[in-house]
Amino acid sequence: MREEKVFADLLYLIHNIIYGGDWKVFGIGEDNLEMLLKGFDEGSMVLILGHPGAGKTTFAAKILYRNCRSGGVKCVYVSLAEDRDKFLRYMGRFGIDLDTLERKGIFEFIHMPTFAGKDLVESVTSVLSAKIVSEGFRVAVVDSVTPLLNALTTDEARSYLHATLYNLVRSSQGLLILVADLPYGKETVDLRGLEFIADAVFVFKTRVERGLITRFMEVRKFRGRRIPIVEIPFTIAEDEGVRIILSPPLEEIPVLTEKPAMESPCSELLWGPMPRGTYIGVVGKDAPVFYTTFKVLLDLALKSNAYLALLSFRMPSSEMKRLVHHIAQSLGQDIKSVEELIKFEQGVNPSIYSCYEVMGILRQVIDRDPDILLLHGTEMLYLYHPSRYIDRGLRDLALYARRKGASIVEFVSGLFSKKQLARYSMIHLINLDEHSKVVHTVYRHVPIIVNGKIVGAEPRRIYEEELLKCIKQM
Ligand SMILES: Nc1ncnc2c1ncn2[C@@H]1O[C@H](COP(=O)(O)OP(=O)(O)O)[C@@H](O)[C@H]1O
Ligand SMILES: [Mg+2]
Repeated sequence: MREEKVFADLLYLIHNIIYGGDWKVFGIGEDNLEMLLKGFDEGSMVLILGHPGAGKTTFAAKILYRNCRSGGVKCVYVSLAEDRDKFLRYMGRFGIDLDTLERKGIFEFIHMPTFAGKDLVESVTSVLSAKIVSEGFRVAVVDSVTPLLNALTTDEARSYLHATLYNLVRSSQGLLILVADLPYGKETVDLRGLEFIADAVFVFKTRVERGLITRFMEVRKFRGRRIPIVEIPFTIAEDEGVRIILSPPLEEIPVLTEKPAMESPCSELLWGPMPRGTYIGVVGKDAPVFYTTFKVLLDLALKSNAYLALLSFRMPSSEMKRLVHHIAQSLGQDIKSVEELIKFEQGVNPSIYSCYEVMGILRQVIDRDPDILLLHGTEMLYLYHPSRYIDRGLRDLALYARRKGASIVEFVSGLFSKKQLARYSMIHLINLDEHSKVVHTVYRHVPIIVNGKIVGAEPRRIYEEELLKCIKQM
Protein backbone atom coordinates (compact mmCIF):
# COMPACT_ATOMS: atom_id res chain seq x y z
CA MET A 1 0.00 0.00 0.00
CA ARG A 2 2.78 2.40 0.95
CA GLU A 3 4.47 1.60 -2.32
CA GLU A 4 1.37 2.61 -4.22
CA LYS A 5 1.31 5.92 -2.40
CA VAL A 6 4.99 6.53 -3.13
CA PHE A 7 4.37 5.66 -6.74
CA ALA A 8 1.38 8.03 -6.95
CA ASP A 9 3.46 10.83 -5.43
CA LEU A 10 6.27 10.17 -7.86
CA LEU A 11 3.86 10.20 -10.78
CA TYR A 12 2.47 13.49 -9.55
CA LEU A 13 5.97 14.95 -9.34
CA ILE A 14 6.90 13.80 -12.85
CA HIS A 15 3.70 15.24 -14.26
CA ASN A 16 4.39 18.52 -12.53
CA ILE A 17 7.79 18.69 -14.13
CA ILE A 18 6.54 17.80 -17.60
CA TYR A 19 3.31 19.79 -17.65
CA GLY A 20 4.39 22.62 -15.41
CA GLY A 21 1.99 21.79 -12.64
CA ASP A 22 -0.98 21.39 -14.96
CA TRP A 23 -1.95 18.22 -13.23
CA LYS A 24 -4.61 17.81 -10.67
CA VAL A 25 -4.48 15.46 -7.80
CA PHE A 26 -7.68 13.48 -7.84
CA GLY A 27 -8.56 11.55 -10.97
CA ILE A 28 -12.02 11.37 -12.53
CA GLY A 29 -11.81 7.77 -13.63
CA GLU A 30 -13.31 8.24 -17.07
CA ASP A 31 -10.32 8.50 -19.42
CA ASN A 32 -11.77 10.91 -21.94
CA LEU A 33 -13.22 13.20 -19.32
CA GLU A 34 -9.91 13.17 -17.51
CA MET A 35 -8.17 14.23 -20.70
CA LEU A 36 -10.56 17.16 -21.00
CA LEU A 37 -10.79 18.27 -17.38
CA LYS A 38 -7.53 16.81 -16.00
CA GLY A 39 -8.88 16.08 -12.54
CA PHE A 40 -9.90 17.65 -9.25
CA ASP A 41 -7.64 19.79 -7.09
CA GLU A 42 -6.95 18.94 -3.50
CA GLY A 43 -9.59 20.43 -1.26
CA SER A 44 -12.41 20.28 -3.85
CA MET A 45 -16.12 19.96 -3.40
CA VAL A 46 -17.89 18.38 -6.35
CA LEU A 47 -21.63 18.45 -6.89
CA ILE A 48 -23.38 15.83 -9.01
CA LEU A 49 -26.97 16.82 -9.57
CA GLY A 50 -29.38 14.83 -11.66
CA HIS A 51 -32.61 13.08 -12.46
CA PRO A 52 -33.38 9.67 -10.95
CA GLY A 53 -31.60 6.92 -12.87
CA ALA A 54 -29.43 9.40 -14.74
CA GLY A 55 -26.19 7.80 -13.56
CA LYS A 56 -25.16 9.93 -10.53
CA THR A 57 -24.35 7.00 -8.27
CA THR A 58 -22.50 5.17 -11.02
CA PHE A 59 -20.40 8.25 -11.77
CA ALA A 60 -19.65 9.05 -8.12
CA ALA A 61 -18.58 5.44 -7.57
CA LYS A 62 -16.34 5.59 -10.63
CA ILE A 63 -14.52 8.67 -9.33
CA LEU A 64 -14.14 7.07 -5.93
CA TYR A 65 -12.90 3.80 -7.37
CA ARG A 66 -10.29 5.51 -9.52
CA ASN A 67 -8.76 7.30 -6.56
CA CYS A 68 -9.05 4.44 -4.16
CA ARG A 69 -7.60 1.85 -6.51
CA SER A 70 -5.02 3.72 -8.56
CA GLY A 71 -4.43 6.70 -6.31
CA GLY A 72 -4.16 4.55 -3.21
CA VAL A 73 -6.14 6.95 -1.04
CA LYS A 74 -8.74 5.90 1.52
CA CYS A 75 -12.29 6.46 0.32
CA VAL A 76 -15.65 6.38 2.04
CA TYR A 77 -19.13 6.18 0.51
CA VAL A 78 -21.91 7.48 2.71
CA SER A 79 -25.25 6.41 1.33
CA LEU A 80 -28.63 7.55 2.53
CA ALA A 81 -30.43 5.35 0.06
CA GLU A 82 -28.88 1.97 -0.61
CA ASP A 83 -27.46 -0.69 1.67
CA ARG A 84 -23.96 -2.06 1.29
CA ASP A 85 -24.77 -5.35 -0.42
CA LYS A 86 -26.97 -3.82 -3.03
CA PHE A 87 -24.50 -1.04 -3.77
CA LEU A 88 -21.51 -3.34 -4.09
CA ARG A 89 -23.45 -5.76 -6.24
CA TYR A 90 -24.65 -3.08 -8.67
CA MET A 91 -21.25 -1.40 -8.89
CA GLY A 92 -19.60 -4.79 -9.44
CA ARG A 93 -21.48 -5.04 -12.72
CA PHE A 94 -19.71 -1.91 -13.89
CA GLY A 95 -16.28 -3.34 -13.16
CA ILE A 96 -16.08 -1.40 -9.91
CA ASP A 97 -14.76 -4.00 -7.50
CA LEU A 98 -15.18 -2.43 -4.09
CA ASP A 99 -15.20 -5.74 -2.26
CA THR A 100 -11.45 -6.14 -2.65
CA LEU A 101 -10.73 -2.57 -1.61
CA GLU A 102 -12.96 -2.98 1.42
CA ARG A 103 -11.01 -6.05 2.48
CA LYS A 104 -7.77 -4.11 2.09
CA GLY A 105 -9.20 -1.51 4.44
CA ILE A 106 -9.02 1.40 2.04
CA PHE A 107 -12.71 1.53 1.21
CA GLU A 108 -15.62 1.81 3.55
CA PHE A 109 -19.33 1.89 2.86
CA ILE A 110 -21.59 3.50 5.40
CA HIS A 111 -25.34 3.18 5.17
CA MET A 112 -27.09 5.94 7.10
CA PRO A 113 -30.65 5.18 7.99
CA THR A 114 -32.69 8.20 6.96
CA PHE A 115 -34.25 9.46 10.14
CA ALA A 116 -35.99 12.75 10.06
CA GLY A 117 -34.74 16.25 10.61
CA LYS A 118 -31.60 17.58 12.15
CA ASP A 119 -30.52 14.31 13.72
CA LEU A 120 -29.70 13.14 10.25
CA VAL A 121 -27.56 16.19 9.54
CA GLU A 122 -25.72 15.72 12.79
CA SER A 123 -25.02 12.07 12.33
CA VAL A 124 -23.80 12.50 8.74
CA THR A 125 -21.54 15.30 9.85
CA SER A 126 -20.07 13.36 12.72
CA VAL A 127 -19.43 10.35 10.51
CA LEU A 128 -17.74 12.52 7.89
CA SER A 129 -15.50 14.32 10.34
CA ALA A 130 -14.56 11.11 12.10
CA LYS A 131 -13.55 9.53 8.82
CA ILE A 132 -11.84 12.56 7.31
CA VAL A 133 -10.22 14.17 10.30
CA SER A 134 -9.42 11.22 12.55
CA GLU A 135 -9.08 8.29 10.17
CA GLY A 136 -7.40 9.93 7.20
CA PHE A 137 -10.01 9.22 4.52
CA ARG A 138 -9.34 11.58 1.64
CA VAL A 139 -12.25 10.97 -0.70
CA ALA A 140 -15.81 11.00 0.58
CA VAL A 141 -19.12 10.68 -1.25
CA VAL A 142 -22.49 11.59 0.24
CA ASP A 143 -25.35 10.10 -1.80
CA SER A 144 -27.53 12.05 -1.58
CA VAL A 145 -27.48 15.35 0.30
CA THR A 146 -31.05 16.20 -0.66
CA PRO A 147 -32.58 14.88 2.61
CA LEU A 148 -29.98 16.90 4.55
CA LEU A 149 -30.77 20.09 2.71
CA ASN A 150 -34.47 19.52 3.19
CA ALA A 151 -34.05 19.12 6.93
CA LEU A 152 -32.61 22.61 7.29
CA THR A 153 -33.95 26.09 6.79
CA THR A 154 -32.26 28.08 4.05
CA ASP A 155 -30.06 29.98 6.50
CA GLU A 156 -29.11 26.88 8.42
CA ALA A 157 -28.30 25.07 5.22
CA ARG A 158 -26.06 27.86 3.97
CA SER A 159 -24.13 28.01 7.16
CA TYR A 160 -23.90 24.22 7.36
CA LEU A 161 -22.52 24.01 3.85
CA HIS A 162 -20.04 26.82 4.34
CA ALA A 163 -18.95 26.40 7.91
CA THR A 164 -19.08 22.64 8.21
CA LEU A 165 -18.71 20.80 4.92
CA TYR A 166 -16.57 23.28 3.07
CA ASN A 167 -14.19 23.69 5.98
CA LEU A 168 -13.87 19.96 6.33
CA VAL A 169 -12.81 19.69 2.70
CA ARG A 170 -10.42 22.61 2.82
CA SER A 171 -8.69 21.57 6.01
CA SER A 172 -8.30 17.95 4.94
CA GLN A 173 -7.30 18.85 1.35
CA GLY A 174 -9.43 15.94 0.27
CA LEU A 175 -12.24 15.48 -2.24
CA LEU A 176 -15.88 15.63 -1.23
CA ILE A 177 -18.47 14.49 -3.74
CA LEU A 178 -22.05 15.45 -3.03
CA VAL A 179 -24.87 13.88 -4.97
CA ALA A 180 -28.18 15.75 -5.16
CA ASP A 181 -31.52 14.77 -6.63
CA LEU A 182 -33.36 16.60 -9.36
CA PRO A 183 -37.00 15.59 -9.81
CA TYR A 184 -38.07 14.35 -13.26
CA GLY A 185 -38.94 17.10 -15.65
CA LYS A 186 -37.24 19.77 -13.56
CA GLU A 187 -34.21 21.68 -14.80
CA THR A 188 -33.16 23.06 -11.41
CA VAL A 189 -33.90 22.69 -7.75
CA ASP A 190 -33.20 24.84 -4.69
CA LEU A 191 -29.76 23.73 -3.53
CA ARG A 192 -29.45 26.30 -0.76
CA GLY A 193 -26.39 27.83 -2.36
CA LEU A 194 -24.47 24.57 -2.69
CA GLU A 195 -23.91 25.28 -6.37
CA PHE A 196 -22.03 28.48 -5.47
CA ILE A 197 -19.51 26.93 -3.15
CA ALA A 198 -18.92 23.77 -5.17
CA ASP A 199 -15.72 23.74 -7.24
CA ALA A 200 -17.28 21.58 -9.93
CA VAL A 201 -20.90 21.04 -10.86
CA PHE A 202 -22.14 18.22 -13.06
CA VAL A 203 -25.80 18.00 -14.01
CA PHE A 204 -26.92 14.58 -15.22
CA LYS A 205 -29.91 14.41 -17.49
CA THR A 206 -31.79 11.93 -19.55
CA ARG A 207 -33.61 12.73 -22.73
CA VAL A 208 -36.11 10.45 -24.34
CA GLU A 209 -36.40 10.65 -28.11
CA ARG A 210 -38.48 8.25 -30.16
CA GLY A 211 -38.76 6.15 -27.02
CA LEU A 212 -34.98 5.75 -26.70
CA ILE A 213 -32.89 7.07 -23.88
CA THR A 214 -29.98 9.46 -24.39
CA ARG A 215 -27.90 10.41 -21.38
CA PHE A 216 -25.78 13.49 -21.11
CA MET A 217 -23.93 15.40 -18.47
CA GLU A 218 -23.64 19.14 -18.34
CA VAL A 219 -20.38 20.41 -16.92
CA ARG A 220 -21.75 23.65 -15.51
CA LYS A 221 -18.74 24.67 -13.56
CA PHE A 222 -15.20 23.48 -13.26
CA ARG A 223 -12.88 25.73 -11.35
CA GLY A 224 -9.56 26.44 -13.01
CA ARG A 225 -10.41 24.98 -16.39
CA ARG A 226 -11.98 26.24 -19.57
CA ILE A 227 -14.82 24.00 -20.61
CA PRO A 228 -15.18 24.10 -24.38
CA ILE A 229 -18.05 21.65 -24.42
CA VAL A 230 -20.84 21.86 -21.92
CA GLU A 231 -23.20 19.09 -22.89
CA ILE A 232 -21.39 15.78 -23.03
CA PRO A 233 -23.30 12.67 -24.13
CA PHE A 234 -22.49 9.45 -22.34
CA THR A 235 -23.67 5.90 -21.98
CA ILE A 236 -23.78 3.51 -19.07
CA ALA A 237 -22.16 0.30 -20.18
CA GLU A 238 -21.72 -3.16 -18.78
CA ASP A 239 -18.31 -3.62 -17.15
CA GLU A 240 -17.38 0.04 -17.15
CA GLY A 241 -20.22 2.28 -16.02
CA VAL A 242 -20.20 5.85 -17.27
CA ARG A 243 -18.44 6.34 -20.62
CA ILE A 244 -18.53 9.68 -22.39
CA ILE A 245 -18.81 9.90 -26.16
CA LEU A 246 -16.63 12.74 -27.40
CA SER A 247 -14.71 13.28 -30.58
CA PRO A 248 -11.04 12.62 -29.79
CA PRO A 249 -8.65 15.59 -30.12
CA LEU A 250 -7.21 15.71 -33.65
CA GLU A 251 -3.71 16.32 -32.36
CA GLU A 252 -3.69 12.85 -30.91
CA ILE A 253 -4.62 11.04 -34.10
CA PRO A 254 -1.54 9.35 -35.60
CA VAL A 255 -0.67 9.56 -39.28
CA LEU A 256 -2.20 6.64 -41.12
CA THR A 257 1.08 5.07 -42.11
CA GLU A 258 2.73 5.31 -38.72
CA LYS A 259 2.06 1.69 -37.86
CA PRO A 260 2.92 -1.26 -40.15
CA ALA A 261 0.42 -2.27 -42.78
CA MET A 262 -1.43 -5.59 -43.07
CA GLU A 263 -0.97 -7.44 -46.32
CA SER A 264 -2.03 -10.42 -48.36
CA PRO A 265 -1.71 -10.94 -52.11
CA CYS A 266 -5.46 -10.74 -52.76
CA SER A 267 -6.18 -7.84 -50.44
CA GLU A 268 -3.29 -6.06 -52.13
CA LEU A 269 -5.23 -6.24 -55.42
CA LEU A 270 -8.14 -4.40 -53.86
CA TRP A 271 -6.84 -2.02 -51.27
CA GLY A 272 -3.09 -1.91 -51.78
CA PRO A 273 -1.15 -1.71 -48.55
CA MET A 274 -3.61 -1.34 -45.69
CA PRO A 275 -2.03 0.63 -42.84
CA ARG A 276 -3.41 0.13 -39.35
CA GLY A 277 -6.12 2.63 -38.58
CA THR A 278 -7.55 2.50 -42.12
CA TYR A 279 -11.32 2.85 -42.41
CA ILE A 280 -12.66 1.24 -45.58
CA GLY A 281 -16.20 1.87 -46.69
CA VAL A 282 -17.28 -1.12 -48.78
CA VAL A 283 -20.36 0.20 -50.52
CA GLY A 284 -22.52 -2.25 -52.40
CA LYS A 285 -26.00 -2.43 -53.78
CA ASP A 286 -27.08 -5.42 -51.80
CA ALA A 287 -25.75 -7.89 -49.29
CA PRO A 288 -24.68 -10.89 -51.44
CA VAL A 289 -22.06 -8.83 -53.29
CA PHE A 290 -20.10 -8.53 -50.06
CA TYR A 291 -19.33 -12.21 -49.90
CA THR A 292 -16.12 -12.17 -51.95
CA THR A 293 -14.81 -9.10 -50.17
CA PHE A 294 -15.47 -10.74 -46.83
CA LYS A 295 -13.49 -13.72 -48.08
CA VAL A 296 -10.56 -11.49 -49.02
CA LEU A 297 -10.72 -9.91 -45.60
CA LEU A 298 -10.73 -13.22 -43.77
CA ASP A 299 -7.81 -14.38 -45.90
CA LEU A 300 -5.97 -11.18 -45.00
CA ALA A 301 -6.64 -11.74 -41.31
CA LEU A 302 -5.31 -15.30 -41.57
CA LYS A 303 -2.19 -14.22 -43.46
CA SER A 304 -1.33 -11.37 -41.14
CA ASN A 305 -2.55 -13.08 -37.99
CA ALA A 306 -4.92 -10.21 -37.32
CA TYR A 307 -7.66 -10.34 -34.71
CA LEU A 308 -11.14 -9.63 -35.95
CA ALA A 309 -14.23 -8.26 -34.30
CA LEU A 310 -17.53 -8.68 -36.13
CA LEU A 311 -20.49 -6.47 -35.46
CA SER A 312 -23.61 -6.56 -37.54
CA PHE A 313 -26.67 -4.33 -37.50
CA ARG A 314 -28.50 -6.86 -39.66
CA MET A 315 -27.52 -10.36 -38.58
CA PRO A 316 -27.42 -12.14 -35.25
CA SER A 317 -24.03 -13.48 -34.23
CA SER A 318 -25.10 -17.07 -34.96
CA GLU A 319 -25.65 -16.19 -38.58
CA MET A 320 -22.29 -14.43 -38.77
CA LYS A 321 -20.69 -17.53 -37.33
CA ARG A 322 -22.25 -19.67 -40.02
CA LEU A 323 -21.04 -17.32 -42.70
CA VAL A 324 -17.52 -17.38 -41.27
CA HIS A 325 -17.55 -21.19 -41.18
CA HIS A 326 -18.68 -21.33 -44.75
CA ILE A 327 -15.95 -18.96 -45.89
CA ALA A 328 -13.31 -20.81 -43.87
CA GLN A 329 -14.27 -24.04 -45.60
CA SER A 330 -14.19 -22.48 -49.04
CA LEU A 331 -10.74 -21.09 -48.26
CA GLY A 332 -9.65 -24.60 -47.30
CA GLN A 333 -8.94 -23.47 -43.75
CA ASP A 334 -9.91 -25.37 -40.69
CA ILE A 335 -12.67 -23.67 -38.78
CA LYS A 336 -10.80 -23.64 -35.53
CA SER A 337 -7.90 -21.53 -36.75
CA VAL A 338 -10.38 -19.02 -38.17
CA GLU A 339 -12.43 -18.97 -34.99
CA GLU A 340 -9.33 -18.25 -32.98
CA LEU A 341 -8.89 -15.02 -34.90
CA ILE A 342 -12.35 -13.79 -34.04
CA LYS A 343 -12.16 -11.93 -30.80
CA PHE A 344 -15.72 -10.79 -30.68
CA GLU A 345 -18.99 -11.08 -32.55
CA GLN A 346 -22.27 -9.42 -31.87
CA GLY A 347 -25.50 -8.55 -33.57
CA VAL A 348 -26.86 -5.18 -32.49
CA ASN A 349 -30.39 -4.09 -33.26
CA PRO A 350 -30.12 -0.33 -33.76
CA SER A 351 -33.83 0.18 -33.17
CA ILE A 352 -33.52 -0.31 -29.42
CA TYR A 353 -30.56 2.00 -28.78
CA SER A 354 -30.19 5.72 -29.15
CA CYS A 355 -27.47 6.83 -31.52
CA TYR A 356 -25.05 7.61 -28.67
CA GLU A 357 -25.69 4.23 -27.12
CA VAL A 358 -24.75 2.61 -30.44
CA MET A 359 -21.55 4.67 -30.58
CA GLY A 360 -20.77 3.64 -27.01
CA ILE A 361 -21.14 -0.03 -27.95
CA LEU A 362 -18.85 0.43 -30.95
CA ARG A 363 -16.17 2.13 -28.87
CA GLN A 364 -16.33 -0.67 -26.37
CA VAL A 365 -15.64 -3.11 -29.19
CA ILE A 366 -12.62 -1.04 -30.29
CA ASP A 367 -11.39 -1.15 -26.69
CA ARG A 368 -11.10 -4.91 -27.02
CA ASP A 369 -8.19 -4.15 -29.35
CA PRO A 370 -9.15 -6.00 -32.52
CA ASP A 371 -6.83 -5.40 -35.48
CA ILE A 372 -9.84 -5.12 -37.74
CA LEU A 373 -13.44 -4.35 -36.88
CA LEU A 374 -15.86 -5.60 -39.48
CA LEU A 375 -18.99 -3.50 -39.33
CA HIS A 376 -21.87 -4.96 -41.24
CA GLY A 377 -25.15 -3.42 -42.28
CA THR A 378 -24.70 0.20 -41.24
CA GLU A 379 -27.56 1.09 -43.58
CA MET A 380 -29.77 -0.14 -40.73
CA LEU A 381 -28.51 2.75 -38.60
CA TYR A 382 -29.84 5.17 -41.19
CA LEU A 383 -33.19 3.47 -41.04
CA TYR A 384 -33.65 4.26 -37.37
CA HIS A 385 -31.60 7.38 -36.68
CA PRO A 386 -31.07 10.80 -38.24
CA SER A 387 -28.22 10.59 -40.74
CA ARG A 388 -26.30 13.55 -39.34
CA TYR A 389 -25.90 11.76 -36.00
CA ILE A 390 -24.72 8.60 -37.68
CA ASP A 391 -22.25 10.32 -39.98
CA ARG A 392 -20.79 12.31 -37.12
CA GLY A 393 -20.75 9.38 -34.74
CA LEU A 394 -18.98 7.10 -37.18
CA ARG A 395 -16.50 9.80 -38.18
CA ASP A 396 -15.64 10.13 -34.47
CA LEU A 397 -15.40 6.35 -34.26
CA ALA A 398 -12.93 6.45 -37.18
CA LEU A 399 -10.70 8.83 -35.20
CA TYR A 400 -11.12 6.79 -32.05
CA ALA A 401 -10.12 3.58 -33.84
CA ARG A 402 -7.21 5.22 -35.64
CA ARG A 403 -5.81 6.44 -32.36
CA LYS A 404 -5.87 2.86 -31.12
CA GLY A 405 -4.42 1.45 -34.34
CA ALA A 406 -7.56 -0.53 -35.21
CA SER A 407 -8.82 -0.71 -38.79
CA ILE A 408 -12.47 -0.72 -39.69
CA VAL A 409 -14.07 -2.31 -42.72
CA GLU A 410 -17.64 -1.17 -43.05
CA PHE A 411 -20.00 -3.08 -45.32
CA VAL A 412 -22.85 -0.80 -46.21
CA SER A 413 -25.60 -1.11 -48.77
CA GLY A 414 -25.86 2.27 -50.39
CA LEU A 415 -24.42 5.75 -50.17
CA PHE A 416 -26.66 8.02 -48.19
CA SER A 417 -24.96 11.37 -48.45
CA LYS A 418 -21.61 13.03 -49.03
CA LYS A 419 -21.19 13.35 -45.28
CA GLN A 420 -20.80 9.60 -45.10
CA LEU A 421 -17.48 9.94 -46.93
CA ALA A 422 -15.91 11.93 -44.09
CA ARG A 423 -15.11 8.79 -42.15
CA TYR A 424 -13.58 6.70 -44.91
CA SER A 425 -9.92 6.60 -45.74
CA MET A 426 -10.82 4.30 -48.64
CA ILE A 427 -14.03 3.94 -50.57
CA HIS A 428 -14.62 0.57 -52.13
CA LEU A 429 -17.57 0.53 -54.51
CA ILE A 430 -19.05 -2.73 -55.76
CA ASN A 431 -21.06 -2.34 -58.94
CA LEU A 432 -22.30 -4.27 -61.93
CA ASP A 433 -20.85 -3.22 -65.25
CA GLU A 434 -22.82 -3.10 -68.51
CA HIS A 435 -22.36 -6.87 -68.96
CA SER A 436 -23.65 -7.52 -65.45
CA LYS A 437 -20.20 -8.43 -64.20
CA VAL A 438 -19.30 -7.49 -60.66
CA VAL A 439 -16.58 -4.88 -60.55
CA HIS A 440 -14.78 -3.41 -57.56
CA THR A 441 -13.54 0.18 -57.69
CA VAL A 442 -11.38 1.45 -54.86
CA TYR A 443 -10.55 5.09 -54.23
CA ARG A 444 -8.28 6.32 -51.55
CA HIS A 445 -9.93 9.32 -50.06
CA VAL A 446 -6.56 10.94 -49.55
CA PRO A 447 -3.48 9.50 -51.30
CA ILE A 448 -0.94 8.35 -48.72
CA ILE A 449 2.79 7.82 -48.82
CA VAL A 450 3.85 4.24 -48.11
CA ASN A 451 7.56 3.36 -48.27
CA GLY A 452 8.28 6.60 -50.06
CA LYS A 453 5.69 5.98 -52.80
CA ILE A 454 2.39 7.77 -53.26
CA VAL A 455 -0.44 5.28 -53.14
CA GLY A 456 -3.96 5.83 -54.24
CA ALA A 457 -3.91 8.84 -56.51
CA GLU A 458 -5.67 6.68 -59.11
CA PRO A 459 -8.63 4.41 -58.38
CA ARG A 460 -8.11 0.67 -58.63
CA ARG A 461 -10.55 -1.36 -60.68
CA ILE A 462 -10.74 -5.07 -60.48
CA TYR A 463 -13.30 -7.61 -61.64
CA GLU A 464 -14.70 -10.02 -59.14
CA GLU A 465 -13.57 -12.90 -61.39
CA GLU A 466 -9.92 -11.89 -60.94
CA LEU A 467 -10.40 -11.59 -57.24
CA LEU A 468 -11.92 -15.07 -57.05
CA LYS A 469 -9.06 -16.43 -59.13
CA CYS A 470 -6.58 -14.91 -56.71
CA ILE A 471 -8.32 -16.48 -53.74
CA LYS A 472 -8.46 -19.86 -55.44
CA GLN A 473 -4.70 -19.80 -56.04
CA MET A 474 -4.00 -19.20 -52.38
N1 LIG B 1 -25.65 -3.25 -16.77
C1 LIG B 1 -26.08 -2.07 -17.16
N2 LIG B 1 -25.80 -1.62 -18.38
C2 LIG B 1 -26.21 -0.41 -18.77
N3 LIG B 1 -26.93 0.41 -18.02
C3 LIG B 1 -27.26 0.01 -16.79
C4 LIG B 1 -26.85 -1.24 -16.30
N4 LIG B 1 -27.31 -1.35 -15.04
C5 LIG B 1 -27.98 -0.21 -14.77
N5 LIG B 1 -27.96 0.60 -15.82
C6 LIG B 1 -28.56 1.93 -15.89
O1 LIG B 1 -27.90 2.75 -14.96
C7 LIG B 1 -28.84 3.63 -14.38
C8 LIG B 1 -28.62 3.70 -12.89
O2 LIG B 1 -27.74 4.69 -12.65
P1 LIG B 1 -27.56 5.28 -11.20
O3 LIG B 1 -26.14 5.72 -11.16
O4 LIG B 1 -28.03 4.36 -10.15
O5 LIG B 1 -28.54 6.53 -11.28
P2 LIG B 1 -28.86 7.64 -10.21
O6 LIG B 1 -27.91 7.45 -9.07
O7 LIG B 1 -28.66 8.92 -10.97
O8 LIG B 1 -30.28 7.45 -9.84
C9 LIG B 1 -30.21 3.08 -14.63
O9 LIG B 1 -30.95 4.06 -15.31
C10 LIG B 1 -30.00 1.87 -15.48
O10 LIG B 1 -30.81 1.95 -16.63
MG1 LIG C 1 -28.41 7.01 -7.03
